[in-house]
Parts: sequence; structure tokens; C-alpha cells
Amino acid sequence: MIVKDDTLLIKFKNPIFKEYYHTKVLHTDDDSIYTEIPYADGQPVLPAEGSMVFLYNQRTQTEHISELSAKQMSPDMFFVIKKPFYKKGDKTKFIAIASGKGGVGKTSFAINLAVSLSQKGYHTFLLDADMGMANVDILMNVRVENTIRDIIDNDLHILDVVVDGPGGVNVIPGGSGFQDLANIDVWKFNKLLNSFNDLEKYADYVIIDTGAGIAKNVMNFLMASHEVLVITTPEPHAITDAYALIKTINEIDPTIIIKLIINKAESPEEANFIAGKIIQVAKENLSIKILKYGYILEDFAVMRAIKKRRPFLISEVDSPASKCVDNISNLIINKPYTETVFKKSFTDRFKELIKK
Ligand SMILES: Nc1ncnc2c1ncn2[C@@H]1O[C@H](COP(=O)(O)OP(=O)(O)OP(=O)(O)O)[C@@H](O)[C@H]1O
Ligand SMILES: [Mg+2]
Repeated sequence: MIVKDDTLLIKFKNPIFKEYYHTKVLHTDDDSIYTEIPYADGQPVLPAEGSMVFLYNQRTQTEHISELSAKQMSPDMFFVIKKPFYKKGDKTKFIAIASGKGGVGKTSFAINLAVSLSQKGYHTFLLDADMGMANVDILMNVRVENTIRDIIDNDLHILDVVVDGPGGVNVIPGGSGFQDLANIDVWKFNKLLNSFNDLEKYADYVIIDTGAGIAKNVMNFLMASHEVLVITTPEPHAITDAYALIKTINEIDPTIIIKLIINKAESPEEANFIAGKIIQVAKENLSIKILKYGYILEDFAVMRAIKKRRPFLISEVDSPASKCVDNISNLIINKPYTETVFKKSFTDRFKELIKK
């Protein structure tokens, strides 16, 4: 928590004012923090209102992100900074959304799950890690300036890459940044992984939208995450491919518990039946544990939302699809954190996997 008289190191997401500046908190109220305007080379530092702000509190040694809401020049000079979101818990959960077959609804689900968690007060990031067809930015209608590629090539901080998405979701555009990950130097890749470690300072949840299938890059994201949500539709070829993915995960690490979600279900009964069948076959042939984690009904609201480039959780709050995603986000939130899951960070798990 930032309070009066705290000394902050402040950095803006701004091409001109790139440095870290010292400032002091003048006072705070329910919505904002008021700070001195710092000087650099004898000039006041005046980035545009709306700029993203990175704050380091020297007293508590904690980092926060927020936004510059206003700057007052006279009679007194001060910044008005939106009260930062204080991460709810002390843990950051990385959740990967995966499927065997493509086009089963991963991206739509990932976006709306992120919105749902964010609306419930959790600081949520959505990482677009679909190497071939990154399209979170298109579906969320956000303008991408940098991608995670710039963390590797141009030494950007992960917060320089984040863009504000609808519903308070922080979008991390991956896209082209992931395309040649397989050929990238290990030290460069570690730079990227370390920046994911930075996310642990700000995020309650990091939702990872992956590409379909079992390519090694995709698998690493799955295996390093704290939770793996496998999505399938009730169609037989989607089910077969989901099973193949589950089998591959089982081969790499049978201790992972898979959360199964049925999308485009005709009814709760159909979803229940399909999930039951997959779980039964897995039980007979594999040692991995699979949990039913809900379903999303087939709903025109999803397609309408995609055309409007708005998450259906925002544009069609009362739609059946929204209610289904809401149920799933409750499952995620209410699941107690267990120590075993958090023994290692996402970054450490990923580093181990690429060594194999
Ligand atoms: N619950 C639903 N009801 C109706 N249509 C849906 C539903 N979920 C997804 N869709 C439709 O399925 C299409 C594919 O969805 P989406 O792009 O999210 O899949 P994906 O798994 O991310 O695909 P890819 O593997 O190509 O990344 C969407 O265009 C949308 O129209
Ligand atoms: Mg997708």
C-alpha cells in the first residue's frame, strides 16, 4: 500500500520520458495518489495523461502498475495517479488454455475467462502465445505497438509490451515474437522467461492462449503452467485430438491434473456425457487425472461478439455463454491454492523443460 510521504521510483510507458524518476507522495484518497512532478535536466517530466505508470515503493519494496490520470501545473504542481491495483493474493497462477484440434474456441474462451477474472477484482494478464495465428489483439480490438519479441530484441520491460484490453485485462501480445522461438539463443529466451517472472509481481492470473496441437513450443507452455485447461467440442475429431493431447501430457508428466472443458455443447447433459466418456477412456489407459471443469453452450452471442470485436462477457452479459464462463471462473477462483502447485514458478518450470 502506498501512503503519504512514501518515496517512489516512477517510470512511464512513454517514448520520451524513459528513465526512472524519484518522486514523493503528497497525499492519497480513495481513488488516487498525488505525487510531486519530478524533474529531469532542469525540466519537469510531463508525459501524456493516460500513460501507463510503473511505481516502485522504496519503503515497502513493492512494485505496482497504474495510470497517470492528470497532471496539475498551477498553482501547485502534482501528478494524479490512479490508485494502483494491489495484487489480491501473494501468488500468481499461470493457466494455459489448450486443445488438440484447432478452432474449438480457445481464444474466445481465453479472452472471456480473463475478462471474468478481471471483473471479479483479480489482476489478470492474457498472454497470446499462439505462434502461428496470434489474434487476441484483433478479437479484443487493441492496438499492438510492441510484442514480446521486443523484450528479446530491444530490451523492453514486459510492461512496455502490455496493452490495456477491455474489461481491465492486460494483454501481452506474443504473436510473431514466438514464431522462431525454436531457433532462438538460450540466453535470449531466458531473457523472455525472466520477464514472465516479473509478472509475478503484478498478476493474480496469467491466462495463456496457446496454439492447437502438440508442437514442442506449445507443450512447454502447458507443462510449465500451474493449470492446464483442455478444450474440446463434442465433435468426434475434436475429441480424438483432445485425447491425443492428453496422452502426450501424460507421457511428459502424469502428475499434472487436466481440467477438461466442453465448448459448443448443445446442453449441459451433452457436455457432461462427453466429458465423462473422455475421462473414462483416460482412466482405462492413462495414469493422468482429469477433472470436469464445466462447459460452454453453443451460443450465437459468441459469434456476434467476435464480429464486434468485444468479449461476450461485456457485450452480452446475460448470454448463456457468459454464464458458462462465469461458472468456470468461479471454479478457478474457489479452488484453493496448494503448495505443491506453487513449489516452482512458471519461469523455473519452463527453464527445466527446455533443458530436456
Ligand atoms: N460457445 C460457442 N458458441 C458458438 N460458436 C463458438 C463458440 N465458441 C467458439 N465459437 C466459434 O468458433 C470459432 C473459433 O473460435 P476460436 O478462434 O476461439 O478457436 P481457437 O481454438 O482459438 O482456434 P485456433 O486453434 O485457430 O486458435 C469462432 O469464430 C466462433 O465463431
Ligand atoms: Mg486461437
